[in-house]
Amino acid sequence: MLHSSEIFPLQDGKEVVIRSADPEDAASMLQYMKIMLGETPFLLRTPEEFDYTPEEEARILAGRKNDPRSLMLLAETEGQIIASADVCSHGARSRIRHRGELGISVRKDYWGQGIGSALMERLISFAEQSGFEQIELTVAAKNQRAQRLYRKYGFTVYGTRPHGLKYPDGSYDDDYLMIKAL
Ligand SMILES: CC(C)(COP(=O)(O)OP(=O)(O)OC[C@H]1O[C@@H](n2cnc3c(N)ncnc32)[C@H](O)[C@@H]1OP(=O)(O)O)[C@@H](O)C(=O)NCCC(=O)NCCS
Repeated sequence: MLHSSEIFPLQDGKEVVIRSADPEDAASMLQYMKIMLGETPFLLRTPEEFDYTPEEEARILAGRKNDPRSLMLLAETEGQIIASADVCSHGARSRIRHRGELGISVRKDYWGQGIGSALMERLISFAEQSGFEQIELTVAAKNQRAQRLYRKYGFTVYGTRPHGLKYPDGSYDDDYLMIKAL
């Protein structure tokens, strides 16, 4: 789904453009993912495990653009992607198509400036307009910053998956399963 481009002003005077992702963003999206995944231990892949080719990434972005029940948003400033967030359907099957899944990430240098909130508001409004009845996500138990963002937008924890994440030192983190009814 397409989302028209909007300017989002940051407190330091920089302007961030929020818009939907396009297949032409494939190369910069790969670059963004590699950097961003190295900045947080809380996502499901390491930078090395994000190994799509630009062609594969372009196909994924084209699929998102052409799917009326999916929205992938980017935030960019000074020609660089600094955040991405998406809502998509769990599947087209009749028994689960009322459920949306949300994901979000922001480059560390830009945390705490309202970009995550701006993306959440647009995704929730898209999900409502697209007929989703609930949005679901999982978040690492130690990822309190993300949990605060989700709680602020009405998500609640409905379950805990023990040892959802395992780190190279052998330690684990649980996953919280969160949901927001629309
Ligand atoms: C979680 C994340 C998306 C938040 O994005 P952001 O742009 O920093 O979010 P915002 O600036 O809009 O802040 C949103 C809320 O986060 C919370 N927050 C902000 N700074 C915080 C801090 N220092 N400590 C704890 N919570 C904080 C607040 O509740 C804030 O809302 P408020 O300012 O209205 O109180 C971002 O930190 C990120 O990408 N983290 C790494 C990837 C990740 O964890 N993704 C989620 C995986 S489930």
